Amino acid sequence: MSKLIAGNWKMSCFGADAIDLAEGIRDAVAANDEILDGADLLVCPPYLYIGIVQTVLGPESGVFVGGQDCALSENGAHTGDISAEMLVDAGCNYVILGHSERRQNHKESDALIAKKTARAYAEGLNVILCVGETEAQRDAGKAEEVVGAQIDAADFDGADYDKITIAYEPVWAIGTGKTASPDDVKAMHGFIRGKLQEKLAYGAEIRILYGGSVKPDNAESLLSLPNVGGALIGGASLNAESFMAIAKAAHKIEEQEYAAE
Ligand code: PGA
Repeated sequence: MSKLIAGNWKMSCFGADAIDLAEGIRDAVAANDEILDGADLLVCPPYLYIGIVQTVLGPESGVFVGGQDCALSENGAHTGDISAEMLVDAGCNYVILGHSERRQNHKESDALIAKKTARAYAEGLNVILCVGETEAQRDAGKAEEVVGAQIDAADFDGADYDKITIAYEPVWAIGTGKTASPDDVKAMHGFIRGKLQEKLAYGAEIRILYGGSVKPDNAESLLSLPNVGGALIGGASLNAESFMAIAKAAHKIEEQEYAAE
């Protein structure tokens, strides 16, 4: 399966920036559309700007648009929330759930994330489920235990290999410029793959993204590791050039793998 290169714009842009960024990505993809052979591209703008980004990146651009979260409930009296069906109505194909910033800032529990996941599947969205340990948990030798428990608590009912993506994002690597070492990424992605295969008939097919300070200069080495099916990118996705440089790295690796088969 192609690698998924996903930009998480977080709460880091205004409307005019979102339009510029979407236009930059659209134009770069149009000029290098072979990239889409080896990479699925996704951008996740703040809710408020999904509509304007969709006007730039319609289906013909080949770039998917997703949400950064969704509500627990269906449409109704839930002030301030945005539902999974609203995301679909706005043209989204994906939703990020369980990002560590939501786990920390909004006290989202594994149980709550599992319920949101079920809502997202019910509306036909592809879920990117984020997992990852804090620095203290890694230092205490508990990284696998923590990530394993997050996966055990996940909802896979109604999922399929192309409806669920896991994003391994060590919390200490997010926005810090510190990237997990290739050996650590290899070990954790291998561990996650093993867990998915234990649980699911299609566990070998699920994409496992790495996230945490992915940049153009480390993308190729991270994306070429075994069981790394793409990247979830924060800071470097806010610039069309650096986002596209990461997408190009994914395309190059896919081409090399195809040639080696
Ligand atoms: P970063 O963020 O690339 O800025 O480290 C990644 C993320 O939070 O998804």
